[in-house]
Amino acid sequence: MSDEKLESLSTVTLKNGSSGKKANSLKSIGNSESTISSQPSNQLSAGLLGWYSVCSSKTLKSGELSFITMFNEPLVLYRDNDSRVRCIKDLCPHRGASFQGGTIDSGEIICPYHGGRFSAEGTCTNLDRITCQHIVDSNYNNYAKKIHLYQYPCIENNGYVYIYYTGEAKTDLKEFEFKRSLKDSLPEAYGFETSEYAFEEVFVDFKCDWARIIENHLDILHIFWIHGNTIPDKDVNRNAITSFDQEITRDSRHIESKYHHKKNGNGEGEFISIKFVPPGRIMIYKGTPKTARYIQVLDHIPLGSNRARVIVRHYRKFMKNKVLTDLILFKHLQQRIFYKVFSEDYLVLKTQTFNEQMGYIKKDNVKLLGEDKMVQYYWDWHQNALNKDKPWQIHATNSNTNTVHLDMPMPYPPENPKLAIENQRAIVIKLLIRALVPIGLLLLII
Ligand code: FES
Ligand SMILES: [Fe+2]
Repeated sequence: MSDEKLESLSTVTLKNGSSGKKANSLKSIGNSESTISSQPSNQLSAGLLGWYSVCSSKTLKSGELSFITMFNEPLVLYRDNDSRVRCIKDLCPHRGASFQGGTIDSGEIICPYHGGRFSAEGTCTNLDRITCQHIVDSNYNNYAKKIHLYQYPCIENNGYVYIYYTGEAKTDLKEFEFKRSLKDSLPEAYGFETSEYAFEEVFVDFKCDWARIIENHLDILHIFWIHGNTIPDKDVNRNAITSFDQEITRDSRHIESKYHHKKNGNGEGEFISIKFVPPGRIMIYKGTPKTARYIQVLDHIPLGSNRARVIVRHYRKFMKNKVLTDLILFKHLQQRIFYKVFSEDYLVLKTQTFNEQMGYIKKDNVKLLGEDKMVQYYWDWHQNALNKDKPWQIHATNSNTNTVHLDMPMPYPPENPKLAIENQRAIVIKLLIRALVPIGLLLLII
C-alpha cells in the first residue's frame, strides 16, 4: 500500500489528554501531580523522561534490595517500613559507595561500607557511627543535612512499580514537578479494565538499544516471517499474505494503529491493534478495549546503552481459573513461547543496534514501507524526544568508565538461557508426573 493511501486511511483524533475513568487508586510517594497540564495535540506530549514501569510489585520483596539502572544511572529499589517502594540513587552520601552488599533493617537501608543507616525519607539515622555526635550537633548543616539519600518518586499501581525518572534524583521528593500524569500510561486510561482479566508476566533482558526493541514490538510484518513457526496462530506463518489496511490514530497521549485484513475491507477482519504510550509502553489487543479478550502490555526499560529490559504482561479474559491453568501448565507454556519469540528477535535487535550506532540506518540507506507507518511515527517521536531530553547525556559513560554495572549479569532470557531451559525442564517433569500418577494408581489397584 502506498504512503498516500495509508495517509488517507489515517485518522488524526484530537483529545484533551484527560486521564481515564476508573483508574486504579495510586499509592504514591512524592509530590501531588497537580502541576500537570496537557495540551490538545496530535503530537505526543511525553518525552523520554517521565513515568516508567520498572518492575513488578511481587518481585520487590520487603527486606530486599533490587538494583536497576535507568539510562546508565544506578538505582536501588526497596520497601520502607510502611512497605512503600523507595527508589534511591545507588550512592551512599557518606563516601559514595554503592549499596550493593548492603542490607535493609526495619525498612531502613544500611550501607555496606561503614554501616551508615538511612530513614525512608533519606536522613542518616546513625551519624554517630560515622562521626562524633557533638560534631553533628554543633554543625548540622555540614553533616546531617548533607548526608541524605537522593530519591525518585515511586508509585505502585496494579502490581507494577513505576518511577518518575528525570535523570536528577533529589533529597526532597516534594521538589519534583510532574510534567505528565501516570494515569495517562495506564491501560484504564484507554478503556481497558484490567481488573477483569487474569494475567501472567514474563521478564526479558536484551543487550541492545532499547528503542530497537520498541520498534520491533510496533512492527507487525516481522512476526509472520521470523516468528511464523512459533506464534500459535494458523494465520501467522511465512506463507501468509502480510499486507494490511492500516488505520492510525494519534493524540497527545498515544499512537495507535489498527490492522485489518485487506480482503475483508475496512472495519472488518481486524488482525490486531497496537497502541504506543510513551515513553516505553505498548498495548496489543484485538477488538475494542471493552471487548478485547486479551491485552498484551509490554514495558520497555532503558537500563543503559545497549541494555534493556522488557516486562511482558499477558492479560486474558479466558482461562481465568487458576486450578485449570495450573493443570495445563499454562504459565510455563506461555513463558516457553515468549522466551522463544524473544530469542528469535535477539540477533536482529543486536545487529540493528550496531547498524543504528554506526549511522547506517538513515533516510538514504533504508526505506520504510506502507505498514511501517507506525514505526515511522515512533522514529519521529523518538528523535524529537532524544533531541529535547537528551537522556543518554545526563549520566553519560565513556571509554574510561569502569564496567561494574555493565558486568552485572542480566537475569532473564534470552540473556540468560538457563531460565528458559529450567522452564522447559519443569514442563517435562510435570508432564511426566502427570502421566505416571495414574499408572501408579493403577498398579496399586491391581
Ligand atoms: S560510604 Fe556509606 S557509610 Fe560510608
Ligand atoms: Fe519479534
